[in-house]
Amino acid sequence: MKFSISFDQRDRKILHEYWDSIIDSGKWTEGPFTEKFEESWSEKTNLYSVAFNGWSGAATALQEYYKIAGQTVLVPSNTFMATPLSVIKAGGVVQFVDCNRFDLCMSFDDLESKAKQHPPKAVWLVHIGGHIAFEIEEITKYCQENEILLFEDCAHAHGAEWNGKNPGQWGEAGVYSFYATKTCPTGEGGMLVTRNKELYEFAKKFRNYGKFDYDVQGLNFRMDRSIV
Ligand SMILES: Cc1ncc(COP(=O)(O)O)c(C=O)c1O
Repeated sequence: MKFSISFDQRDRKILHEYWDSIIDSGKWTEGPFTEKFEESWSEKTNLYSVAFNGWSGAATALQEYYKIAGQTVLVPSNTFMATPLSVIKAGGVVQFVDCNRFDLCMSFDDLESKAKQHPPKAVWLVHIGGHIAFEIEEITKYCQENEILLFEDCAHAHGAEWNGKNPGQWGEAGVYSFYATKTCPTGEGGMLVTRNKELYEFAKKFRNYGKFDYDVQGLNFRMDRSIV
């Protein structure tokens, strides 16, 4: 079956105007559109925002910063393969946690049980299907009390809100995806959000080979022109 992304034809004209301005500026990457996108995301989430070429780049930066290599990370069983694979690629060890029937997200009961069996350095919580995980408050409290890092996979949860909070505001950081199938698509793209200024600065360098101090060993995860 051929899969295609729907597109509001009313946006065509303004998108062509934006494209013209990018061509005129000669800046095809790390230009004003990316900066504006980051600023808008920060306004919405009240967190620092760093744009990436996809979810994986942002998740890799996050797990490099927190030195996940060799450590156990708990991941919900109901997620896209990106979540556990990002842990494996960061050198971590994945242990799965069951999900609830009522929200399809990580079960707090099973998290407690798995954390006892496999003490984790971090937990990836996935806000699956566009809503905040129903047990977010219990999971956040548990992670704080047990000194476990909480990472939020916000790939599905653009614009979601619970008790006045947005995805990415409960844990150390959140990672959004702007892949073509997502609620807010740019074709390809990701965004790391965090209140940790040091992580924010690390991520900005990490996505661009550590430029320009070279104290961070990054690779190329730059977002190219983003028009949203
Ligand atoms: C829950 C979840 N996490 C991560 C990703 C990865 O995002 P990306 O396609 O930007 O790598 C996806 C889907 O693509 C997803 O559904």
